[in-house]
Amino acid sequence: MGAPRDAWSPPAADAPGIHGDGRNRPSRTHVVAVLPGDGIGPEVTAEARKAVDAAGARLGFGVDWAELDLGADRYLATGEVLPDTVLKELGQVDAILLGAVGRPDVPPGVLERGLLLRLRFELDLYVNLRPVKLYPGVASPLAGATPADVDLLVVRENTEGAYVGAGGTVHQGTPAEVATEESLNTRHGVERCLRYAAGRARERDGVLTLVHKTNVLTHAGGLWARTAREVAEETGVRLEYAHVDAACLYLVTDPGRFDVVVTDNLFGDILTDLGAAIAGGLGTAASANLNPGGRGPGGLMPSPPADGAPGGNRGPSLFEPVHGSAPDIAGTGRANPVAAVLSAALLLDHLGEAQAAAAVEAAAVAVLPGAARYSTRELGDQIAAAVADEVPVPAPPTAGDPEAPREPIIRTTTQ
Ligand code: IPM
Ligand code: MN
Repeated sequence: MGAPRDAWSPPAADAPGIHGDGRNRPSRTHVVAVLPGDGIGPEVTAEARKAVDAAGARLGFGVDWAELDLGADRYLATGEVLPDTVLKELGQVDAILLGAVGRPDVPPGVLERGLLLRLRFELDLYVNLRPVKLYPGVASPLAGATPADVDLLVVRENTEGAYVGAGGTVHQGTPAEVATEESLNTRHGVERCLRYAAGRARERDGVLTLVHKTNVLTHAGGLWARTAREVAEETGVRLEYAHVDAACLYLVTDPGRFDVVVTDNLFGDILTDLGAAIAGGLGTAASANLNPGGRGPGGLMPSPPADGAPGGNRGPSLFEPVHGSAPDIAGTGRANPVAAVLSAALLLDHLGEAQAAAAVEAAAVAVLPGAARYSTRELGDQIAAAVADEVPVPAPPTAGDPEAPREPIIRTTTQ
């Protein structure tokens, strides 16, 4: 692991590259910034990197990791959260892998808004893609739920809604205090998110469920519902709808009714924690903050918008486990690295390394049964070895296996 640095400069065209003298030089190299962040972030991103490097070594590509030390330590030492110069450097990489941000000794919001949300907004990562998948050998708290019942994709709008920071307070600290927090929804923002979701639905069952609260939030809900109908008609997907409160109920009573869900920023935040819970915990919940037309040969939209077209600045996409920094278990070796490894698999897919993504996902999923027996590093080693095809992944336990599945990570921080 290289020393943390603030700046990454592209190598000269004739530079030998990260593999030295050019012999065994990979045919392609991706530049990936890694922001390990706080709590368990550094532990789990280290394991995700191992898996990616193993995939590169096996499949003939290289990854130039640019590690950046952003997060609680830097903030407490220097007051810096995300310096503009670092943001500019981040705009140049192919993708970003993030561990976790937030720690109890930093006031809530400083790192969440100043680092994670700023990256989502400034890089215009308008889709937050969160698979909700129950993997074999993982116990769901839903009685009798099987992997076939819990397998959906949540497409969360990621740059608008209640997250924009529109609002204010007056008379703070007095009995007359007033606070507002407005949800902003634009036709452009809603439509591009719906179009992405419809694209994913077409690749799967052809059914898209809009989740909102149109019976109360009639302004924003009306915009979402009208736009969803238009996009569904145009793209040929079947549109279904559930109010967000009912969607929570259905996720628990009948998760199989959902396949691709599209929803606004705040509803998506809440729904995906519930999703992680029904899929057995935060230890396997991966996410991709995407600018689908952005950097990377594997941009998920068929063709990126032309330069200068509306659609933002097309920054690199950012991949992170859904779980927080879990400071209570940081440093104990008990963090489950699988969510970070699965996020790295999404990253590889986004970079056009579909075969590597599949290998990394399969290896990560294969260690899940009985994962509680192993430390973070042991699990990472097993995953990397399986990706490298050196050792077989331990077989999933049979029905009678006495090993309990790994306890989900309990989130104790602000994230
Ligand atoms: C998430 C987190 C973030 C969010 C926080 C840390 C800002 O909860 O990624 O779900 O609310 O989006
Ligand atoms: Mn959340």
